[in-house]
Amino acid sequence: MDLSIAGRTALVCGASKGLGFGCALALVKEGVNVVIVARGQEALDAAARQLQAAATGGAFVKHVAADITTEAGRTAVFAVQRDYDIVVTNAGGPPPGDFRDWDREAWIKAVDANMLTPIELIKATIDGMAQRGFGRIVNITSSSVKSPIDILGLSNGARSGLTGFVAGVARNPTVAGKGVTINNLLPGAFDTDRLRSTMEGGAKKSGQSVEAVKDSRKKTIPAQRFGTAEEFGSICAFLCSVHAAYLTGQNVLADGGAYPGTY
Ligand SMILES: NC(=O)c1ccc[n+]([C@@H]2O[C@H](COP(=O)([O-])OP(=O)(O)OC[C@H]3O[C@@H](n4cnc5c(N)ncnc54)[C@H](OP(=O)(O)O)[C@@H]3O)[C@@H](O)[C@H]2O)c1
Repeated sequence: MDLSIAGRTALVCGASKGLGFGCALALVKEGVNVVIVARGQEALDAAARQLQAAATGGAFVKHVAADITTEAGRTAVFAVQRDYDIVVTNAGGPPPGDFRDWDREAWIKAVDANMLTPIELIKATIDGMAQRGFGRIVNITSSSVKSPIDILGLSNGARSGLTGFVAGVARNPTVAGKGVTINNLLPGAFDTDRLRSTMEGGAKKSGQSVEAVKDSRKKTIPAQRFGTAEEFGSICAFLCSVHAAYLTGQNVLADGGAYPGTY
């Protein structure tokens, strides 16, 4: 399927690896120019080289080493490229833990990274998109928004705040009526560094091998496996395509059937 977004320009945050990288890869393969952001320079340089090699139609790849959750980081990103047709918001998820241990600072950090940062990025780009009559915003959130995970309370809470905000803004006629869509893409279990480190933590705690922890987790997923960053990227690219113009304000769950509800 031709997604008809070649020549568009995308900002993809948290894209030196994992799900963000998967999204950037799917977009450059469609001929979309991308600006990728992550904090670690080395992984970012490597990712940019890999993306440039995969790019079609003369698409460019720029990279900015910055913390997207800070104002300085976002200023650096917009200094490289002011206008974007596509924005994929993403940053590392908050740590797991017991809610009794989280103080105000832990909450502010989680809300900053997983709610206020996407909102700032939306605010900075949405009016330009509306003026040009085309825009796609995809927020990488989590299946925990629909099906909370007890030890991920910081994520459940902060991401739910973003979900509520997006539900309203996406339906604003100054947005939806101007060719701009905003959707959240909710990963279940995807085989990335983050998942691997969670599995390692689980193995240490339970005294099992990492493989044993992985296998038992996979058995809880109807698809009997973890998703791949490439699969995730393809869904993201579809949401950014011309074909998804009538799809907005949605929470698109990609979890191999793990969510047990009918709706
Ligand atoms: N993988 C899953 O199964 C899964 C499930 C549910 C939800 N999620 C959520 O999906 C998101 C992506 O997860 P992932 O599995 O792709 O993680 P990952 O493999 O750890 O990759 C995270 C990427 O984001 C970058 N990043 C992290 N914090 C950043 C910041 N403050 N500013 C800029 N870049 C930043 C990282 O690079 P640097 O560290 O160098 O900055 C890296 O490129 C996370 O929010 C995670 O909680 C993932």
